Amino acid sequence: MHTVNTYRQVESSEDEYIILKALLDAPDAFISGSVLAEQLGISRPAIWGKLEKLREKGFEFEAIRNRGYQLTKVPNVLNPALAQYYAAQAGLETSLLYFPVIDSTNSEAERQISYARKSPFAIVSSCQTKGRGRLGREWHSASADNLYLSVLFEPNIPPQALQHFTLWAGIYICRALQRYVPNAKLQIKWPNDLHCDGRKFAGMLTEAKMDADSLRSIVFGIGINLNSNPNQYPKAIRQLATSLHAVHGSELPLNQVAVSVLQAIHQAYDACIHNQTTESLPQAWAKLSSLCGQPVTALRGDESIHGIASGVDASGALLLKSEDGTMHTIRAGDVTLKK
Ligand code: BTN
Repeated sequence: MHTVNTYRQVESSEDEYIILKALLDAPDAFISGSVLAEQLGISRPAIWGKLEKLREKGFEFEAIRNRGYQLTKVPNVLNPALAQYYAAQAGLETSLLYFPVIDSTNSEAERQISYARKSPFAIVSSCQTKGRGRLGREWHSASADNLYLSVLFEPNIPPQALQHFTLWAGIYICRALQRYVPNAKLQIKWPNDLHCDGRKFAGMLTEAKMDADSLRSIVFGIGINLNSNPNQYPKAIRQLATSLHAVHGSELPLNQVAVSVLQAIHQAYDACIHNQTTESLPQAWAKLSSLCGQPVTALRGDESIHGIASGVDASGALLLKSEDGTMHTIRAGDVTLKK
């Protein structure tokens, strides 16, 4: 059956970008209407109309006769022009495709590559209707206060490198997010979860397409509970999940955090796939692991293995030391803390 993709991409408006850039570049100054009009090649009344449109999206300006405009409020919602501005500031060259609603950003990345979009690129959304988690689970994705994003790469390397990649991505993203919440302790729970105070606030899902002996594409997706209120989460996850807002005590800037996370994903890709790091995975992991030294149970197929989590090996597998001293290597599955 032929299915039609009905999701709407909202592109960054060139004019909006130019106005916001002029105002954000000079936060303490007033930019005159004639300067903006000249930059855009339109009349001053037309500038007024553009500012009205931005006001409708939640931006606020102070306007002073004979001096011009100053930006006084930036709405904390995903906005493609703002995200593009912060991406340019960070030197991030990846194209960023924003969809207000999508089934799954991972699925959209796959569709975009089938339309021959040049990789790498990122898909960012405010709401997923079919967000996917690991092991066939659902990823609850209804809140526009959270982040749902995916990046697609075409690495053309042997498939073994894949496991590493998600672990490196977790390390780089955890470090990037930590800078926004200096008083909280962000940690990684093997293999793909980010935790704070024993509760999960982000999950990662890497999906790959392979040829006979090479990785054709990797889609790395992450969902981050950013500014949502954990009291409004579905009952089943309310006790297990948190958000960065909840642990920090105040809102985080959505567009800037999205760009920092995308930057971290690219750094992880360079570190892992292009070997651009001198750090060892086990050492970098040990500093951030929520499980190290803790008694845990790992599920390997039908088998439960109990032991003390003792870090990861160079391949990214979890090492579990059982009571009789045997070291078990867990390559995939779920791990829970033993109460
Ligand atoms: C997990 O913890 O089980 C992984 C969750 C991954 C969720 C993200 S949200 C963005 C991307 N698109 C998806 O459908 N899933 C990932």
